[in-house]
Amino acid sequence: MQKIEIKSKNGFFGKYGGRYIAEILRPALLELEEAFFKYINDKDFLNEYEAILKNFVGRPTPLLFAENATREIGGANIYLKLEGLANTGAHKINNAIGQALLAKKMGKKRIIAETGAGQHGLATACACARLGLECEIFMGEIDIARQRPNVFWMELFGAKVIPVTTGTKTLKDAVNAALREWAERRMDTHYLLGSAVGPYPFPDMVREFQSVIGRETKKQFLEMKGKLPDMLIACVGGGSNSIGFFADFLNDEQVRLVGVEAGGKGKGRGENAARIAGPGSVGIVQGYKSLFLQDEDGQLLPTHSISAGLDYAGIGPQLAYLAEIGRVEFTSETDNEVLDAFKFFAKTEGIIAALESSHALSASIKMAKKLGKNKDIIVNVSGRGDKDIFITASSLNSEKWFEFLKEEVARYEQKSK
Ligand SMILES: Cc1ncc(COP(=O)(O)O)c(C=O)c1O
Repeated sequence: MQKIEIKSKNGFFGKYGGRYIAEILRPALLELEEAFFKYINDKDFLNEYEAILKNFVGRPTPLLFAENATREIGGANIYLKLEGLANTGAHKINNAIGQALLAKKMGKKRIIAETGAGQHGLATACACARLGLECEIFMGEIDIARQRPNVFWMELFGAKVIPVTTGTKTLKDAVNAALREWAERRMDTHYLLGSAVGPYPFPDMVREFQSVIGRETKKQFLEMKGKLPDMLIACVGGGSNSIGFFADFLNDEQVRLVGVEAGGKGKGRGENAARIAGPGSVGIVQGYKSLFLQDEDGQLLPTHSISAGLDYAGIGPQLAYLAEIGRVEFTSETDNEVLDAFKFFAKTEGIIAALESSHALSASIKMAKKLGKNKDIIVNVSGRGDKDIFITASSLNSEKWFEFLKEEVARYEQKSK
């Protein structure tokens, strides 16, 4: 296998990536590029970042042998990297802390961010509270309705959550709104992008701040087993948890890398968000070239997933490239398969995985059966699923939960009389 470059070449991974932006955003991106490459090689910056990851985020996160699930499935050994145990419940905090710290060094006072599932917004609001920065989060109206608990916590952290009412009112519209705001307020504001997407240097920067996941995993697994795993599996929205998990293994040829997209309700247009496992095609959207679910005119198509974090119509340029050269394999899992996997790992392992991460768990059940015994799979459980309780309980038709909600509403009404 030819050596794979982990960093981009001037912002490009093969033909994907780049910086296709309006002139007005250029100074902000050039300033960011310069600062990022200065600080990412600066010992003091890295020491400060690592100290926050250790003392505030709670790293390293555990690597757990899922022995009950492994026994029940009867195939390969399954290990779980538990990113959900990081502060705020998902991997998003690794990147949020890194960029917020960088913004502070750049003299910025204010952070803006987009969010889909709310996990990145939550992580950003948390990082800003900790580092003393002003924070505004752009969030699609539909996502606000789906992820109300995260909105509540963001506001508690002191962030202002701004509903985005344009387009499909989901993540892609939140990204557009944040980019517009950044163009107007770049002097005092940093746009803290939450996935490995967008114009250069964001895909490189987000990967660097998330690559702690893969580095830790490799060390932990080598200490446990004295060898490398056979397969890594991660869910893929924009691609930050997966590329962070895979980066340190890209040149370990014997380790298969599998990305899992949202198979949603089926294969029809608008029913899923499978770009690589589905019919994504090359386009330039939101400042970068990659694979997108788009119509004949290049307009992004509506998408669907049970998980708010996986329903983005684009994918990070590095993953598009790694798929093209055959280094990362892609598959998708449907909403129903995801719910089954979610329940299975809760019962067998006592883990409440995020619905996003449950896509990877669902794929791991199939892969464990295919690979067979004496092989090792590590799944990145990118987040925990407490945030999803309204969707999960409703999807599982929990009567007791509906009763509880009715009683809760009655209690509120009583109080406000
Ligand atoms: C827990 C969790 N996992 C995965 C994702 C998908 O994002 P990414 O592909 O950038 O990791 C999200 C997005 O919000 C998330 O909240």
